[in-house]
Amino acid sequence: MLLGAVAVLVLGVAVWLRPEAATPRPAAGPAPAPDPAAVSRGEYLLRAAGGCTCHTAGDGASLAGGRPLETPFGVYYSTNLTPDPETGLGDWTDADFIRAMREGVGPDGTDYFPVFPYTSFTRMTQDDLRDMLAYLRSLEPVRAPARPHEAGVLGWRVAARAWRRAFFEPGPLGVEAGRPDAWHRGRYLVEALAHCGECHTPRGLAGRLDARMHLAGSVEGPEGELAPNITPDDETGIGSWSRPDLTWFLQTGLKPDGDDTQGLMSEVIEHGYAHLSDADLGSIAEYLRSVPPVRHRVRAPGAGAD
Ligand code: HEC
Repeated sequence: MLLGAVAVLVLGVAVWLRPEAATPRPAAGPAPAPDPAAVSRGEYLLRAAGGCTCHTAGDGASLAGGRPLETPFGVYYSTNLTPDPETGLGDWTDADFIRAMREGVGPDGTDYFPVFPYTSFTRMTQDDLRDMLAYLRSLEPVRAPARPHEAGVLGWRVAARAWRRAFFEPGPLGVEAGRPDAWHRGRYLVEALAHCGECHTPRGLAGRLDARMHLAGSVEGPEGELAPNITPDDETGIGSWSRPDLTWFLQTGLKPDGDDTQGLMSEVIEHGYAHLSDADLGSIAEYLRSVPPVRHRVRAPGAGAD
């Protein structure tokens, strides 16, 4: 009886975890002629995504991958986004890229680890994804093979698949009645492209973002860095920052008290957010002022209590 139940359970898990059939890939024909307007829109979108700096290793070529990303689960290495046909995105179709970004599944059917924030990019529009790929295709190809992750069992693809099946919520953001366009634009930027929450929201069991603590700060953000509370809570968040404070910060990395920001935040500003239009930065500020304030004092481990 018990054995039977175990067998059914094991079988169930095995079926649940079976690889998804790879989408039939159209034969790689001649590369589409680059559309300069799409390339420049795509470059802007890449900036809005923080410049994708996680894909640039300190000593490596821009966007050629290989950067170690330390997480509580192990070290994962980012991949090559340049159009090298063998080691980068050279032979990816638009459909491949859209599926990777929106569903977390590669062209050959392998599942990605959520250290790649497809959990946010899933909300991007197909048009924006096509433009982003058009820009990536315009880069100089760099040959740089992927490095294997150093995460024990959690580096196995089957772990990525289990995670995706259990926790991933795909799909675009809906429209919220009564909210102005600028707010919707800000939400799209924050929640889809700029993926602020991937660093600023604490993660619970299995590395899942804690929805109740959205943007309320994470002690162990990527690369082990502390990412502060950016909800509008007066005491523990950025409730005292004005909108111009926030847009100035996203342009320069300077906080209202004159301090400059460090680490990953300074990278995503320099290679990304600083290049956004005033209108887009204003929309980000408008949206951030509207998220529920969460009282959550984020402190580095070992720092004194209140
Ligand atoms: C790759 C991770 C990452 C992403 C993406 C990211 N941040 Fe940050 N952010 C950080 C880290 C780490 C810090 C702390 C930097 C420091 O200590 O100087 C920080 C600091 C900040 C601060 C300073 C808060 C304070 O109290 O000092 C603000 C504001 C901020 N981020 C807003 C944003 C917004 C808005 C976005 C999206 C548009 C964003 N961040 C995206 C990692 C990130």
